[in-house]
Parts: sequence; C-alpha cells; structure tokens
Amino acid sequence: MLTIALPKGRLARHAAKLFAACGVQTADILEDSRRLVFTDPATDIRFLLVKPGDVPVYVHRGTADMGVAGKDTLLEAGLPLYEMLDLRCGRCRMCVASCGSESGRPAGQALRVATKYPRIAGMYYGDREEDIEIIKLHGSIELAPVVGLSDVIVDIVESGSTIRENGLQITAEVMDISARLVVNRVSLKAKRGQITPLIEKLREAVRTQEC
Ligand code: PRP
Repeated sequence: MLTIALPKGRLARHAAKLFAACGVQTADILEDSRRLVFTDPATDIRFLLVKPGDVPVYVHRGTADMGVAGKDTLLEAGLPLYEMLDLRCGRCRMCVASCGSESGRPAGQALRVATKYPRIAGMYYGDREEDIEIIKLHGSIELAPVVGLSDVIVDIVESGSTIRENGLQITAEVMDISARLVVNRVSLKAKRGQITPLIEKLREAVRTQEC
C-alpha cells in the first residue's frame, strides 16, 4: 500500500484531480466531508488529509510515502525529503511588504519582520546580512505593520488583494511558490516499483492539466 498525504483545502482538490487523471479513484476526496482517510483498493493507494503544514512531518516520518505541499511549507519545515515534481498549482509569491515607512526607523534598530515563515524570512535577510528581529505570527500578517507591531512582513501574495486592502506595498519578491510532490527517502527505494510509474503519470497529468 502506498500512502499519500494531501494538504486539506484547495490544493487537495487539485491534487485529487491530478491523481484521478493517473487512474486513481479520488472522487470521495472531492466531496465535502469530514473523512480524513480515503483508500482506493484497485490501485492500493491510501490518501491522508492533513493540515498543510503537517504534510512534511508525515512524509519525513514515513507515515506517508509521498505528499503534496507548497514550496513555502517545505522550506519552512526544512526536512530532508525528495522533491520529485513541481505540480504547477497553488502558485503565489513570497514577498516583503510594508506601509512604506520602514526606512524611517531609528538608526541601529533591527528591522522588525512579522511573518508566518521565520525560517524563510531568516534565510532571505541572512543572505543580505541585515539586522532583523523576527516576530512570528500565525495569521492576519498584513495587520502587523499597519498597527506598528512590525516594520515589514514576509508573507504569501496570491491575488494581492489582502496587501492592497490594507494599504501595504510590495517592496521585494523573495521567491515564487508552487505545490510540489515530495517522497520519503526510504519509501523511494522500498516502493520504487509503485512510486516511479505513478510519478511518470503525474508528470504527464501536470503537463496536460490546467491549474
Ligand atoms: C494568506 C496570506 C495572505 C493572503 C494572500 O493568508 O498569508 O494574508 O493569503 O492572499 P491574496 O494575495 O490573494 O490576498 P490566509 O488567507 O491563509 O489567512 P491568514 O491570515 O489566516 O494567514
């Protein structure tokens, strides 16, 4: 049996369509239900629906052989997984944004960076050797500079409406983000016969499907 961790929400639905195009039964996943485990006996594949940020943990520990996760989630987790395929969905950008006043902070004061992604923010500013203070938040990141909690944010921008509606401006682009297929290192060897053909079918499905 091959176990695949999917991130609950929009990405899971997109991934379910990709796996369906590979001949895996995923119709149940597309239904709105509270079930978290879906098995397709015909292909011997089982899907686990987990919190998006938990996908790397399931795959790293081998509870799932494979998983679908955003590049942001993978970088933030920093776990040794094999990244096998860009699924070319869930596309967005990791950006730095501010109210346009961060240059007015007192000399010698570290740049206060609010983010859900402390590791990515740390890598970005580490490369620039900037003195920063990371303020880890869990959501509503755009609020932080508006109310003076931070000078800037490092966050995901998809449509750009949250940034716009809160009067922020993008000051730098950190990286492009999309969903990736990751595989557990041991599973790739132990279940190569099942994993390799599935990845080839997924590659073809990604090529022909609209995101
Ligand atoms: C994410 C992200 C931005 C927003 C970007 O937040 O952190 O706030 O989406 O999307 P947009 O560019 O299309 O407006 P999410 O919706 O996950 O909510 P959160 O505030 O709980 O993190």
